[in-house]
Amino acid sequence: MKQAPKYRVLVTGGAGFLGSHLCERLLADGHDVLCVDNYFTGRRQNIAHLLQNPRFEVLRHDITFPLFIEVDQIYNLACPASPIHYQSDPVQTTKVSVHGAINMLGLAKRLRARILQASTSEVYGDPAVAEQHEGYWGNVNPIGPRACYDEGKRCAETLFFDYHRQHKLSIKVMRIFNTYGPRMLPNDGRVVSNFIVQALQGEPITIYGDGSQTRSFCYVDDLIEGMVRLMETPADVTGPLNIGNPGEFTIRELAEKILQMTGSKSELQFAALPEDDPKRRRPNIDLARKVLGWEPKASLEVGLERTISYFRSTLCA
Ligand SMILES: NC(=O)c1ccc[n+]([C@@H]2O[C@H](COP(=O)([O-])OP(=O)(O)OC[C@H]3O[C@@H](n4cnc5c(N)ncnc54)[C@H](O)[C@@H]3O)[C@@H](O)[C@H]2O)c1
Repeated sequence: MKQAPKYRVLVTGGAGFLGSHLCERLLADGHDVLCVDNYFTGRRQNIAHLLQNPRFEVLRHDITFPLFIEVDQIYNLACPASPIHYQSDPVQTTKVSVHGAINMLGLAKRLRARILQASTSEVYGDPAVAEQHEGYWGNVNPIGPRACYDEGKRCAETLFFDYHRQHKLSIKVMRIFNTYGPRMLPNDGRVVSNFIVQALQGEPITIYGDGSQTRSFCYVDDLIEGMVRLMETPADVTGPLNIGNPGEFTIRELAEKILQMTGSKSELQFAALPEDDPKRRRPNIDLARKVLGWEPKASLEVGLERTISYFRSTLCA
C-alpha cells in the first residue's frame, strides 16, 4: 500500500484553540510538527499532552519577527481570534496579521514551502448578502473597532495572492467561519464558550441585541478536517475557500439550547449590540463540497455536548 508522504510542518499559533487541535491531528497523521506561539491567547496546557511525542517541538516566538527554520509546510494561524483579545491591542492585531503574514510568506518563499492562511469570515464584514460565497467582496468598516482584525486579515489575503502571482508560491487561503469546541478560553467573549460558562456557573446568559442575529457554528474536528484537506489539494487550488457549518441559528436559539443541555436555571439578560456586529453569518460551502469533498459532520447537539463536557471538567477542576 502506498504510504502518505510525511512532512515537517510549522503551525503558527499552535498553542491556541484551533492550533492545538491541528497539531494533534498532524502528529496523528505521522508528520513532524513545530508549534510556534507567543502565548498571547494560547496556553501551554493546550499542548501539554503532545510534549512527550518525539515528533513534536515547541518554540516561543512572536511571528511579527522573522523566523529562520526548515519546514515543508506552514499553517499560519497565529492571531488572536476573539474580539476581546484582538481589540485589546489593535495595533498588534494588525501587525500579527500583516507583518506576521509577510514573515511567514518570506519563509515559505525561501523554502519553497506550501503555506495555508487561516483567514476568516470577518473579511465579509457585515455582509449585504444572506449567504456568503467566496466571490462576495464584503462590507467592512475600515476604521471601526473590528477593522484591526478584519482589514488585517484582508491585507493578509492580498499578500498571499501577490506572493502567489509574483513569486509562484503555493498558497491555500481558508476562510474560517465561527468554530467552537474544547480548549476555547472560558473568558474570551466568544458566544458558545460564553453561554456555556455562564450556564454552568448559574450566571445570567448575556445576549447582545435582541438575540435575533444569526450565526453558524462549526465543530472544531470538522474544521480541522477541512483545513488538512485543503493543504493537500493540488497546487492550482488556492482558495479562498469557505469552511464552516451552514446550519444557521439565532443567538437566542443557541442560548436556549445550551440552557436545556446543561440543565441550567440561568436567566437570559439582554445588553446593547456592539458596534459593527454582523447581523447574519452563513457560509456557502459549495466550493468546499466540490473541491475537498468536505462537509461538516457534527450536529450542533453533538458538538455542544463535547464542549459542555470539556467546560464542566475544566471549570470544576
Ligand atoms: N475560532 C474561530 O472561530 C475562527 C474563525 C475565523 C478565523 N479564525 C482564525 O484561526 C486562527 C486561530 O484561531 P483560534 O480560534 O485558535 O484563536 P486563538 O486565540 O485560540 O489562537 C491564536 C494563537 O495565536 C497565538 N498568537 C497570537 N499572536 C501571536 C504572535 N504574534 N506570534 C505567535 N503566536 C501568536 C496565540 O497565542 C494563540 O495561541 C486565527 O488566525 C483566527 O483568526 C478562527
